Amino acid sequence: MTVLVTGGAGYIGSHMVLELLEAGEKVVVLDNLSTGRRSAVPNEAELVVGDFGDQPLVSGLIARNKIEAIIHFAAKIVVPESVVDPLGYYLNNTASARALLDCAVKHKVKHFIFSSTAAVYGEPEKNPVSEDESLKPVSPYGRSKLMVEWMLQDTAFAHDLRYVVLRYFNVAGADPKGRTGQSFPNATHLIKVAVQTALGMRPGMEVFGTDYPTPDGSCLRDYIQVTDLARAHMAALNHLRDGGENLTCNCGYERGYSVLEVLETVKRVTGVDFDVKISGRRPGDPAAIVAANQRAREILGWEPVHDDLDEIVRQAYEWEKKLLAEKTAG
Ligand code: UFG
Repeated sequence: MTVLVTGGAGYIGSHMVLELLEAGEKVVVLDNLSTGRRSAVPNEAELVVGDFGDQPLVSGLIARNKIEAIIHFAAKIVVPESVVDPLGYYLNNTASARALLDCAVKHKVKHFIFSSTAAVYGEPEKNPVSEDESLKPVSPYGRSKLMVEWMLQDTAFAHDLRYVVLRYFNVAGADPKGRTGQSFPNATHLIKVAVQTALGMRPGMEVFGTDYPTPDGSCLRDYIQVTDLARAHMAALNHLRDGGENLTCNCGYERGYSVLEVLETVKRVTGVDFDVKISGRRPGDPAAIVAANQRAREILGWEPVHDDLDEIVRQAYEWEKKLLAEKTAG
């Protein structure tokens, strides 16, 4: 019995692979290395380089390895990019996911865990937002993911496949042992951008809007540490293996930090006071989005372990330093 991890050379996927290997699982990674790194996949896992929408490749791989579960991370994830390239997002995130699901059904794969996103809620009417709130994604990215949620529901109804959909909030931090982290060079995510600025890799950075209806005027987000997120997937896999029902679950800490609070934390933890320019709002940003996480706690038995913003920032900083040292050496 083997677990197939698509996108296992990427940020969240590589943390998942470590978690699976530590639990003694057999792991095959499928990644086209467009944003992932070969070196992020440990030798104990098999790496297949290719696209998850390539049905002959995926069919062969599932049959050969007797794949019992698929954990599907591979995706395009940049919201503004999805606005200018919607068809690219629908092709990769939606159409290719359909191809992957088709292979899963044909080969009787039992379990499917899908990386969804808080972006399916759009601008939530109330916070913390529960899984039963209305789904009104405002970007092609959010819609491309929501369509996969629907495909999974319909597929599980028609066939012998069960699933867990995990809706991630703002994923941040890195492996506490320093083995992997967020390596994509042009990352746009707040904590990554801020630690890069602290390291002098950027001359300064911007805060996109301080006129939101939030306590300090900047946007409020729920930052979840990446190993805690990988642990939620382990819990989801165990839930399915124990015969648990199909499930859709938020992954967050039910606690929000503002952009300004995050930047203050980055400055304090790194000891570097860098330039921050207040600029206008970034299109498509909800003012506040925080996860209700009762379902993950009660049904999956998941509990946060690394829910400390200082720790998250420190991990991101340490990882960025490591990447910088590699770059300087290479
Ligand atoms: N921000 C800045 N300056 C920066 C980068 C970000 O002020 O240089 C702000 C953003 O405007 C936002 C907050 O920091 O208010 C967080 O932005 P990120 O880009 O880090 O993350 P998002 O909240 O935009 O995106 C996350 C996930 C997406 C998901 C979305 C749903 O990364 O996958 O939440 O709300 F779709």
